[in-house]
Amino acid sequence: MKNEIVITAPGHKGTMDRMGSEFAATRLWEQPDPAATLKKLAHVRAIAHFGHSKVDGKLMDALPKLELISNFGVGVDQIDLDAARQRKIIVTNTPDVLNDCVADCAMALVLNTLRKFPQSDAYLRGGNWAAKGPYPLCTSLGGKVLGVLGLGRIGEAIAKRAQAFGMTIRYHNRKKKDVPYAYDPDPGALAKNSDVLMIVTPGGAGTAKLVNAKVLDALGPQGYLVNVARGSVVDEAVLLRYLQEKKIAGAGLDVFEHEPKVPAEFYSLDNAVLFPHVASATLETRKAMGDLQVENLLLHFAGKPVKTRVV
Ligand code: NAP
Ligand code: 8YV
Repeated sequence: MKNEIVITAPGHKGTMDRMGSEFAATRLWEQPDPAATLKKLAHVRAIAHFGHSKVDGKLMDALPKLELISNFGVGVDQIDLDAARQRKIIVTNTPDVLNDCVADCAMALVLNTLRKFPQSDAYLRGGNWAAKGPYPLCTSLGGKVLGVLGLGRIGEAIAKRAQAFGMTIRYHNRKKKDVPYAYDPDPGALAKNSDVLMIVTPGGAGTAKLVNAKVLDALGPQGYLVNVARGSVVDEAVLLRYLQEKKIAGAGLDVFEHEPKVPAEFYSLDNAVLFPHVASATLETRKAMGDLQVENLLLHFAGKPVKTRVV
């Protein structure tokens, strides 16, 4: 008999296919009446979660035998961790296997935002090179300071890459680390001391609007913001206004507050580079994330400790 799981939302196809062969998997979003389906699945012990829909206490209570929520992704801000703790439900994520890809994407945003490569590509395609002459000069990475807000697993991988581009690293975490980078005591001080402020903290209530008007003022009109963390970490309305009014020089964004909805005003900005949350989106990395998500499920059903426990 295969172990039963509930898959809450659609995600990486290869992983969902594998779950279909390893487990008796119910795809909740495909059910005509998900609440009625959950009642029939009251014995199910594990959820596999994809994407950014909420996993709250109500869903946990609908599965009273729930022991494990296995998340696809390192960020678990969409899961109510306190509710899981109260119910003694284990939550797992997929850390480390995505560090390199996310760090590559972060550097792509730094390069594209400072060097304006997407804009210069559009300039050529629009016939402007011959008609108007060379694309305007922009600014170099070498010699600039990259301030990493959230120097964790991914932040450290970004720092390594940025050093290879000739950048100097500073950082702010709540706890100072044993690293060879200068530490700033708060996000505002980090922004003031940085040319590029790179956000790589977790999302959720603890970091909501951590980057606000005060921090962007400290970054200043020559400063750039890059966000590969979560849209919730930035006050998006303020960021939009600061980009429109050139109160900061530019922004590179992989994440937004209400994905996949992005305020249309961002589209017309010449000083922003916008990616649709693609930082981990390679065939190899998404497979590695899915393998780890499945491994946690298999270990739990085998009565063994899971590999990457958050709660
Ligand atoms: P991690 O290793 O836990 O690193 C997070 C860092 O943020 C830690 O160094 C932590 O240090 C710091 N931090 C946490 N809260 C903070 C606060 N309030 N103020 C300042 N620093 C704070 O996590 P990771 O694996 O690097 O992943 C980081 C995040 O990246 C994920 O949670 C996810 O949201 C995001 N992410 C996005 C994508 C994407 O596709 N765009 C892909 C993967 C991950 P302290 O605890 O000392 O503060
Ligand atoms: C994924 C992510 O895009 O791991 C994370 O926290 O944000 C990304 O790797 C996402 O989890 C897929 O839903």
